[in-house]
Amino acid sequence: MTPLDTKKLRADFPILKRLVHGKPLAYLDNAATTQKPRAVIDALVRFYETNNANVHRGVHTLSEESTNMTEAVRTKLAAFIGAPKPETVVFTRNATESINLVAYAWGRKFLKAGDEIVITEMEHHSNMVPWQLLAKEKGLTLKYAPVELDGTLDLDKVKATLGPKTKLFAFTALSNALGTVNAVQDLIKAGRAVGAAVLVDACQWAPHRPMDMKAWGADFVAFSAHKMLGPTGVGVLWGREELLEAMDPFLGGGDMISRVTLEGATWNALPYKFEAGTPNYADTVAFGPALDYLSAVGLDAIRAHEDALAAKAVALLESEPAVRVLGPKDPKKRSGVISFNLAGLHPHDVGTVFDLEGVAVRVGHHCCQPLMHKMQCGGTARASFYLYNDESDLEALGRALKRTVEFFKLGAKAGVR
Ligand code: ALA
Repeated sequence: MTPLDTKKLRADFPILKRLVHGKPLAYLDNAATTQKPRAVIDALVRFYETNNANVHRGVHTLSEESTNMTEAVRTKLAAFIGAPKPETVVFTRNATESINLVAYAWGRKFLKAGDEIVITEMEHHSNMVPWQLLAKEKGLTLKYAPVELDGTLDLDKVKATLGPKTKLFAFTALSNALGTVNAVQDLIKAGRAVGAAVLVDACQWAPHRPMDMKAWGADFVAFSAHKMLGPTGVGVLWGREELLEAMDPFLGGGDMISRVTLEGATWNALPYKFEAGTPNYADTVAFGPALDYLSAVGLDAIRAHEDALAAKAVALLESEPAVRVLGPKDPKKRSGVISFNLAGLHPHDVGTVFDLEGVAVRVGHHCCQPLMHKMQCGGTARASFYLYNDESDLEALGRALKRTVEFFKLGAKAGVR
């Protein structure tokens, strides 16, 4: 596989030229959101300058252009994720909304008191709180498959948590907080083996690894555009067609109906049944060039690049005795997301000193409070890599680490490993 030409790639991302506190930006917060290539920024501006009109609501030229451009991205995305049909790709505002859509429109209709939902302890709050709300409302039992102390799932323990009463199994493909890569297809199989519907939170997977809805065999998959070079405000829900057909709408309003009378309404065809109101069509259009960009660079090459940087970053961090890197030790179960703590320091203090070196990392609980509790910490600092990161970012990470250790006078005795 040809290594990425990061010098060339970096030139496509205007923001990477900026300075932070007089230092070149080392953007290592890609798990929170990614930067946008010029092609995405230009597509958004060009759309507003030349095509903008509301979709599905007019016969005039601009409305037709706008509609066609939005639907072309749906078709492109369907191909990108191996969806059997574009109609099974629903656009939402974000992955959180995609999961809430399933909880509301599928869970409320098809789950009844006594049914069980299984999720894992490593879920983002977005894949936990909607199920807690639903369980409370409907009298369901919410069960948690345990996470091991190395941040991995034990498939046997997951299987032991699933059972004949499990109606939904929801899990993350890749942990946003620890970087753990889960055995997605084994987990999907385990859920389906007990007859449960399976929902995969693919937010941290979709930007980095190929996925094929037909091969995965899940029922629902959620992710968002902004973590894969696209604009904010565009979430995706892929759903199995028969389930989407059987569900009632999530939100009522314009475009999701077929016919409305004073007595009631009938629903539009997929996917519009789930796209009430004016959608975020401009950002959806600009998601297209993001997908083109990822396809041109190649997800396999991106992953290999990130894996190499992550391995070096772990070695660099672990060369400092005060650092504890969380998550799997096995590089095959680790991604480009690296969570770490420095002995005795609050992650916010670490993040603040890193910022002074121009290094952007996320700090805190990463919307995974139960997981942090399990890892016996309130939060971590998290460095997450993407295709435009390079050796200069690793050097900046090293400088930031050194500065933090010196600033807080952490000696070798402070080691927490
Ligand atoms: N879920 C995103 C993160 O992990 C925002 O940072």
